Amino acid sequence: MTQMPTLTYEARPDAAAKPAPEGAPKVIELPRPDLLSGISLLAALSFRASTREFSPAPLPKRTLGALLWAADGINRPISGGRTAPSPHGRQEIDIYVALPQGVYRYDPATHSLVLKRAIDARGMTGYQDFVGAAPLDLVYVVRTSKLLTLPPAQRDTFSAITAGAISQNVSLFCASAGLATVVRGWINHRLLADALSLNEDEVPILAQTVGMNVVSPT
Ligand SMILES: Cc1cc2nc3c(=O)[nH]c(=O)nc-3n(C[C@H](O)[C@H](O)[C@H](O)COP(=O)(O)O)c2cc1C
Repeated sequence: MTQMPTLTYEARPDAAAKPAPEGAPKVIELPRPDLLSGISLLAALSFRASTREFSPAPLPKRTLGALLWAADGINRPISGGRTAPSPHGRQEIDIYVALPQGVYRYDPATHSLVLKRAIDARGMTGYQDFVGAAPLDLVYVVRTSKLLTLPPAQRDTFSAITAGAISQNVSLFCASAGLATVVRGWINHRLLADALSLNEDEVPILAQTVGMNVVSPT
């Protein structure tokens, strides 16, 4: 089920949290990115594409650090500005990272992953067969309480645009680093909110799977 036929929003029968291996670290400090690595922006754009086949191999920590910094890391330490824009700089999207050892929230201020739940929730982040088999699923969560002073008619659109900017940052990083990725709107919001232990004001709106490309036999 790599393509999207008629969409169902029933939970997948196997979509349940799997026990994570013991000893998930509470905090994972991420290496800073090497800003001189990667290919040119135009070359990355020429490689950007959705991929729905992933190697199960874990991503090196260095790659994870660069990926999350590219996604929405702090690129202007004095102002706390991020790599992705947000309405009035509200920075209303949190990035959750579903890894085999647990669900983490990316904290841009410390450039680290903070453990939310020590479960393997990758299979709960979507319906397609590669979800749960790839080493990493990102989930973009709107913290709606940060948008209360915006006109109600703008809140959903603006937060979707912020999530779109973050996901494109991830896609371009993946294109530059030779990684596979696909952004996914086909998610079960209730299941995910439960898996990520979200508060009432936090809404998951988009997911993105990332992993290494499958090496085809020559
Ligand atoms: C908002 C949004 C939601 C998407 N949701 C899914 C999804 O749930 N599953 C999936 O396999 N692809 C999803 N896609 C990827 C599109 O299917 C893909 O971008 C499109 O087929 C064009 O292919 P390309 O990205 O390789 O150019 C989504 C893309 C966007 C922008």
